[in-house]
Amino acid sequence: MNTKHVTEFEDTQSVLDQVRRAYGAIAGGGAGCCGGATSHCGSPAAGAVTQRLGYAAHELAALPESADMGLSCGNPTALAALKVGETVLDLGSGGGLDCFLAGPKVGAAGRVIGVDLTPEMLARARRGLADYRARTGLDNVEFRLGEIEHLPVADGTVDVVISNCVLNLSPDKPQVWREIARVLRPAGRVAVSDLALLRPLPDSIRGMVEALVGCVAGAVLVEDTREMMREAGLTDIRLTPKPGYVGTLDELRDPLYASIVEQLPAGTRPSDYITSLEATAVKPAA
Ligand SMILES: C[S@@+](CC[C@H](N)C(=O)[O-])C[C@H]1O[C@@H](n2cnc3c(N)ncnc32)[C@H](O)[C@@H]1O
Repeated sequence: MNTKHVTEFEDTQSVLDQVRRAYGAIAGGGAGCCGGATSHCGSPAAGAVTQRLGYAAHELAALPESADMGLSCGNPTALAALKVGETVLDLGSGGGLDCFLAGPKVGAAGRVIGVDLTPEMLARARRGLADYRARTGLDNVEFRLGEIEHLPVADGTVDVVISNCVLNLSPDKPQVWREIARVLRPAGRVAVSDLALLRPLPDSIRGMVEALVGCVAGAVLVEDTREMMREAGLTDIRLTPKPGYVGTLDELRDPLYASIVEQLPAGTRPSDYITSLEATAVKPAA
């Protein structure tokens, strides 16, 4: 097990480099990922894990083969209630799972943009585009290289921002929420799934690099998320913990969760600390 301490990667650029390196390896089939489940990430079992998050089997079956990597911890396209004609932006689009699901929902008059900082992930998502176009007859999805802290998207041009298990990985989350508010049109909305904390993690877990890459060590308290959203100027903020996901990984003795249990005070479980969280909000109309 990698025992390098997160404090070695404290500055923003170091965290981004660490995340880019790890997800570059995962995009090519390496082990270790969000939720930690090294046994399912990028494997055929990924679909089973994703179905537990509420994705319909028929929707998953219609995706490009490379899109569902088992890296998700929620279902933001369902949460967002997307409408025909909308422009959707997916932060940390990975293999393209939510972008390819959002495309048919917004139709030919709509548009979906995925942003990811890992070139290997971008290449993987772009490989799925030909299959997506052939299956749907749509040409409304694109993938851009970039950091969610500095989105390669113009001001006020997006109807809906979605994201799935990514914001916890950012070393500058207040900046990400400001960027979300910047790119949204007035009255635009955000629907994000992520991992969040119910109480602070022990320092020993915060220091595990595999827990950072596994979307645990960088997670913040639910109430801190509310504050960042509020400070970015968003309104109608709704935060809904979804404990089932973490409970399942814990019960399945997922390798990351097993190593986390070893670090927890006796009698506590990962689900006492970590939860999947649905976060929705609106940018005020001008
Ligand atoms: C856990 S995966 C989730 C992928 C996808 N959302 C899904 O559900 O399948 C995290 C993704 O976010 C990307 N990522 C992490 N930090 C990022 C950042 N600061 N800017 C842009 N992308 C980032 C990683 O490269 C990776 O593809």
